[in-house]
Amino acid sequence: MAPLLRLLAGVAALLLAAGVSPASASSSAVDLGVNWGSQCTHQLDPSEVVRMLKANGIMKVKLFDADPWPVGALLDSGIEVMLGIPNDMLEAMTSYGNAEDWVAENATSYGDRLKLRYVAVGNEPFLKSYNGSFMETTVPALKNIQKALDEAGIGDTVKATVPLNADVYVGDKPSEGKFRPDIDGVMTDMVKFMHDHGAPFVVNIYPFLSLYQSDNFPFEFAFFDGGRSIQDNGGVSYSNVFDANYDTLVSALKKAGVPGLKVIIGEVGWPTDGNKNANPKLARRFYDGLLKKLAKNEGTHLRQGKMDVYLFGLFDEDMKSIAPGNFERHWGILTYDGKPKFAMDLSGKGNDKQLTAVSGVEYLPKQWCVFDDEAAKEEGKDKLPGNIQYACASGDCTALGYGCSCNGLDEKSNISYAFNMYFQMQDQDVRACDFDGLATISDKNASTKECLFPVQIISAATVPARRWPASSLLLAMLVAHALVS
Ligand SMILES: *[C@@H]1O[C@H](CO)[C@@H](O)[C@H](O)[C@H]1NC(C)=O
Ligand SMILES: *[C@@H]1O[C@H](CO)[C@@H](O)[C@H](O)[C@H]1NC(C)=O
Ligand SMILES: *[C@@H]1O[C@H](CO)[C@@H](O)[C@H](O)[C@H]1NC(C)=O
Ligand SMILES: *[C@@H]1O[C@H](CO)[C@@H](O)[C@H](O)[C@H]1NC(C)=O
Repeated sequence: MAPLLRLLAGVAALLLAAGVSPASASSSAVDLGVNWGSQCTHQLDPSEVVRMLKANGIMKVKLFDADPWPVGALLDSGIEVMLGIPNDMLEAMTSYGNAEDWVAENATSYGDRLKLRYVAVGNEPFLKSYNGSFMETTVPALKNIQKALDEAGIGDTVKATVPLNADVYVGDKPSEGKFRPDIDGVMTDMVKFMHDHGAPFVVNIYPFLSLYQSDNFPFEFAFFDGGRSIQDNGGVSYSNVFDANYDTLVSALKKAGVPGLKVIIGEVGWPTDGNKNANPKLARRFYDGLLKKLAKNEGTHLRQGKMDVYLFGLFDEDMKSIAPGNFERHWGILTYDGKPKFAMDLSGKGNDKQLTAVSGVEYLPKQWCVFDDEAAKEEGKDKLPGNIQYACASGDCTALGYGCSCNGLDEKSNISYAFNMYFQMQDQDVRACDFDGLATISDKNASTKECLFPVQIISAATVPARRWPASSLLLAMLVAHALVS
């Protein structure tokens, strides 16, 4: 071995001995988390998703429940995890016994194989649109879960928290931030508890929603390129709504008596369809500004330093409620089938390239359900409106609206789009491409340059064997064998 090589090998051995692996995931790891939601009709294989996360250097995820399927795939991955307890379980968690059971089944049973850091108790439970439904249960549930974590002996490393929407605080200027008057009491109780137990405050901040909710919102202020700024007291200037919003929270925490409470951004991102401002170009601009800002570790005026951030979200989810808006199903940095939508650099260095896609994705046959206008002439068009309405109500027509990717279709293709989305969602069942005889199955790709007519994936959840650990499968086979012989 040449002396230089020998020297390098020696250095490598030293690094390995110190537990540092040279040029491995750690060198490409980015200090960013992502939200991994699963409100999809067709699921990707969680083990392939975990492989993709690691390939992209993403070592932190936030889930909305504790489904053993994705959690199983995260075991031994080294990925740090935030598990969620859905709002509809909050009431049950007001009983300490139930909280103990949750912790036993969904946390301690995995031992060290799961790198659990946080338990998110509820999800945005104080949203105004919930009419106060979770007002009484959230804080008792939070306290019970933390107590159960403490008593299970993992409370030092695993902290319970509550991800909240930015509408829990108000303020015309960042320095005037305070909790919303109708929930001030419960918020103050909550943040004091978090402070006393070393738990972080988790907040979801969406510049896109600021823009969506008000026609008067200054467009440039939603981004990070300094096209617009606002003035706070004392000559402080904010050049983007993300920082201004964050500091409004910091002011509210100070007023509540916990000025130093750690803050995590639980969700931030930009959708790519379903609204005139939701498209890949603006999403890319937003992420570019955000990621570069985060890389500088400069923080905000009131909180300097590194920020802890989870992007929203990983994939487009076609079963999300569109009550907040049609864009809800288009938040993914990856598509429904696990492909990157645009180039980005998660490290914020600006070396944009396509993220690694999820591999091993299998598709249904290359066929589409389209409107048969010959049939329509015979059958009469009177049955059409009802059928389109049906297709859109059960399928997904969120890309057809004003300013969206499929808004430019002619009337005929528009109908085809609705029919095809329903057909694909129904796993290309021939009965799902009838529509009173107005539809037909075609093997010609119906997509246009702007508008993708998707072909669905084969859902990993429909392959039953994959949902069972090998041991129980073996047991089932043995039992079956015993029964027949
Ligand atoms: C564990 O988490 C799963 C998934 O969120 C949930 O369905 C289950 O009820 C939890 N277990 C307990 C004992 O609460
Ligand atoms: C909240 O109240 C509004 C108006 O009364 C109602 O339409 C809505 O369904 C309620 N939402 C919930 C979650 O109870
Ligand atoms: C396309 O379909 C959508 C949803 O059904 C509808 O709102 C829109 O008006 C249609 N556009 C055309 C050109 O028919
Ligand atoms: C159909 O065409 C679109 C647009 O060219 C393309 O992106 C898509 O991959 C094609 N679909 C299939 C299943 O080949």
